[in-house]
Amino acid sequence: MSFKKIVVFSVFISFLFSCKSEEYTTKIPQIIPIPNNQTIRDGYFALNSKVALSYDNTFKISAEFLKNYIEDHSNIELDNNNDIQFILDETIENTEGYTLEILPYQIKIRAKTDQGAFYAVQTLRQLLPEAFENGSLSEEKISIQCMTITDAPQFKYRGMHLDVGRHLFSVDFIKKYIDALAMLKMNTFHWHLTEDQGWRIEIKKYPKLQEVAAYRNETLIGHYSDQPHQFDKKRYGGFYTQEEVKEIVSYAQSRHVTVIPEIELPGHAQAAIAAYPNLSCTGEQVNVATKWGVFDPIYCSKDETFVFLEDVLDEVIALFPSEYIHIGGDEAPKTKWKTCQHCQNRIKTENLKNEHELQNYFITRIEKYLNSKGKQIIGWDEILEGGLAPNATVMSWRGTKGAVKAAKQKHNVVMTPTSHCYFDYYQSTNPDEPTAIGGFLPLEKVYDFNPIPLELNKEEAKYILGAQGNIWTEYMSTEDQVEYMAFPRILAMSEVVWSQSSNKNYSDFVKRVEYFNKRLDALDINYANHLYEISGELISENKTTSYTLSSTIKDKTIRYTLDNNEPTLTSEIYTKPISITKNTNIKAAVFDSEKRLGNIFSETINYHKAVGKKITINKTPHSSYSGSGPKGLINGISGSNTRYGDKEWLGFWGEDIEITIDLGEVTEINSFETRFYNSNGQWIYAPKELKIRHKTDIEAEYITFYEKIKTSNDLILNVKTNTIRKARYINIIVPNFGIIPDKKQGAGNKAWTFIDEIIVN
Ligand code: ACM
Ligand code: ZN
Repeated sequence: MSFKKIVVFSVFISFLFSCKSEEYTTKIPQIIPIPNNQTIRDGYFALNSKVALSYDNTFKISAEFLKNYIEDHSNIELDNNNDIQFILDETIENTEGYTLEILPYQIKIRAKTDQGAFYAVQTLRQLLPEAFENGSLSEEKISIQCMTITDAPQFKYRGMHLDVGRHLFSVDFIKKYIDALAMLKMNTFHWHLTEDQGWRIEIKKYPKLQEVAAYRNETLIGHYSDQPHQFDKKRYGGFYTQEEVKEIVSYAQSRHVTVIPEIELPGHAQAAIAAYPNLSCTGEQVNVATKWGVFDPIYCSKDETFVFLEDVLDEVIALFPSEYIHIGGDEAPKTKWKTCQHCQNRIKTENLKNEHELQNYFITRIEKYLNSKGKQIIGWDEILEGGLAPNATVMSWRGTKGAVKAAKQKHNVVMTPTSHCYFDYYQSTNPDEPTAIGGFLPLEKVYDFNPIPLELNKEEAKYILGAQGNIWTEYMSTEDQVEYMAFPRILAMSEVVWSQSSNKNYSDFVKRVEYFNKRLDALDINYANHLYEISGELISENKTTSYTLSSTIKDKTIRYTLDNNEPTLTSEIYTKPISITKNTNIKAAVFDSEKRLGNIFSETINYHKAVGKKITINKTPHSSYSGSGPKGLINGISGSNTRYGDKEWLGFWGEDIEITIDLGEVTEINSFETRFYNSNGQWIYAPKELKIRHKTDIEAEYITFYEKIKTSNDLILNVKTNTIRKARYINIIVPNFGIIPDKKQGAGNKAWTFIDEIIVN
């Protein structure tokens, strides 16, 4: 017999008019993230009159969440005869695991912790009608299909990030965001609070952080790559008061979400330096940044900076109960350190080799301070450069190399590689998408993410705590835009971090997303809907070329035209690949029996002489920009004129590449052309010169010529030559531009090369 206090309460709600008695029956469970095991049983549980909820104090948060959810969102009078029980079950292995049993007269939630029970409640919530979410339920009786669900997460770190430095969002919005995380069984909110463009957390000891660092004079309009830069001439800013921070942290706690604050150092500190110029190497007065990018003024390694940072961290620690404080560490140019007397002295007195080791000194010194206060640090993967601070957890964003290196050194890792976790990238190739930073990260790619890098063995893999989706807000100035970029990719991420990979199936997932969208509507969440979009691919096999169309949702009809007209309900139904023998325009869309569902897909195929021929490249494109692979360079389809992240452009980082095309037979050639992306603000540079070689016979010597490319500020640079008259083999050497020059974005780093279709006519 337990002596723990058992709380039993009933909820009585009378209502004035309604006497309807409709019945809502949940269908096959459509839960996101998909649970480990779900077994449907006979019968229904009736949620219709006074249901008693019983729980002991272990389950206070989860039981009260459920009580409020039902009471506040429906007119259901709960039934005395039926009850919902929260049962402590020590045999459940995972502290976040649960069993949810829905029986005809009882719902039993078993867990070892309140957190586990909370996730059972989130599952139960998804078995209730969407109308619960906004209180629009008209039914008085809800029947829930009897079933048993046993469930537990795959990873213990399941996170979402939000940058409030570039743009600021209301306290209510932050709570709505946390609500969504909790609904999807995510347990960490990474709150990116300080940036070059704004300092967003009140620090009482340093009032200028509120007066100066929290505001910028104006903001860049349009995309960074649009030249010349234009500004809105409007002061922008604000910050969260410590009272608001406490309110948000407590709100998150009541949903089992941990808030990890990020205080960026030593870089991305221009706003703080604008308020207190003595924190920088030169002491020069700078402004809070008004455009995006990486900036040279960073914190100086002199003692007074550490005094400031420790004071700031003292106030931060008092506000955030989380074990971790994120200290940034990314994108800190060493330009100013190189010529600073303080920093150079520090390098000498601490016996450091260079500025990278000085960064390690900086991070380790902050780590020691935080450790002494009982906190652990997380930092972006640059904190590996110059040696890793002894207890640091690494957030791996520049691919997975940092993760592998850290895990092999027995350091914990959170995975956020740009290739799968950057939700500020485009999610569709549709030209109508709102402006985004670049890149291309469709829903399916997020869904396919495996947080464990293949290079790790089982023992090393244990250091991968989990993964996180990142929302950088340079191009998201409104809450609606943040939601649009977060949803539905956050649904995919929830399944990546929670569900067993053996239960994951993309076509099943998108059906659940289609169903889940109704819940998002009820929650007034602005999601992107690309479920009815079409993708196409040019296939060349056995000397024939055809074009295939496919849609994400499989049980609908694709209709298409080849005459440039918009497809309608009477257009040809797509049943098999379309044969391509000449230049062709395809337009297609998804239809149900009554109407078109999604946007119109449109593709222009330029059927030139290299289409479908053999191509090899001596380097693998970067995983974020691998497009359709090498064959995408001769598939008759050119990349976007405004986005290098689509599947036609191939991106390589800092490498010379060599491309060889075999036309299959000696071919008369009139022209040879290609183009390079040249968005310097995004570190992308066209090469200065191509080396082009060609021959008619495998045994022959190549004929070589060089094609200069004029440096220019144009976003795309074309190369066209008619020097080749006849060839079978064409070999193109594309040298990387080299190191990005001083005063340019990314100065000192290697440039990217992006190449588009190679057109042979
Ligand atoms: C980052 O995206 N700079 C971590
Ligand atoms: Zn310095």
